[in-house]
Amino acid sequence: MGGMKLWNVDRIRGLKGRGRLPCVTVCDFVSARLADEAGFPLLLAGDSLGTTVLGYASTLPVTLDVMLHHTAAAARGTREALVVADMPFLSYQVSEAEGIRNAGRFLQEAGADAVKVEGGAFRAGLVAALTRNGIPVLGHIGLTPQSVNQMGGYKVQGRTPAACEQLVADALALEEAGAFAIVLECVPPEAGEAVTAAAGVPVVGIGAGPGCDGQVLVMHDLLGLSLKAPPRFVKAYAALADTARAALAAYKQDVESGRFPAPEHCYN
Ligand code: KIV
Repeated sequence: MGGMKLWNVDRIRGLKGRGRLPCVTVCDFVSARLADEAGFPLLLAGDSLGTTVLGYASTLPVTLDVMLHHTAAAARGTREALVVADMPFLSYQVSEAEGIRNAGRFLQEAGADAVKVEGGAFRAGLVAALTRNGIPVLGHIGLTPQSVNQMGGYKVQGRTPAACEQLVADALALEEAGAFAIVLECVPPEAGEAVTAAAGVPVVGIGAGPGCDGQVLVMHDLLGLSLKAPPRFVKAYAALADTARAALAAYKQDVESGRFPAPEHCYN
């Protein structure tokens, strides 16, 4: 935590309607440094690390301590991007006071610049309380993975006109409460366009079509580093799991055959 970063919430907000905002999740020092060096303005220390890194079946088991630990590592790896910490399940739902205290810990202890909370209009009170207290908030509507049990699975949201209208109302309520941007997950492209047109802050889509102000993907998914098939909305830009499998097999074979270590790996 040194001087001012290139990216702050004002600059992110200012991107509304002016080009597209790329965002990617980060989970540790290395992933954050790579994304920061690639020039991403916005990095999300997402609780999806519960599934991608920690092997849980959902994000529900991810605790506040785990998110503080991973966010702090990501923040140490970041020089210029705005780092948003995902508030995990039960860290903000119980009461506004707990939400403020826990969100504050991400800024005070983990070096995050902002937090993300899931939920629409019903979450606006907490968003207003956080922003009033100096804690910038990224909203998250549409498919909200912490509510997977309530939603009956990871399902596309906003399919009916009424559901789409509700998403627009949710986005406007979060904007009114002070959210500097909003993640919109897993909705048809028409809903992505409608929410983006209505909101005065950047709408960052994930599985929400090309009409959003920005896009976010989980880094493990886009790098091909997940062990299970990623959702339809993911584009794989690499196949790192295959690369790692091949490298590990080659190393193992080299050890077994005595080809490793070679003279160049030995001290004189
Ligand atoms: O946890 C996460 O990675 C997220 C993104 C998918 C938006 O919330």
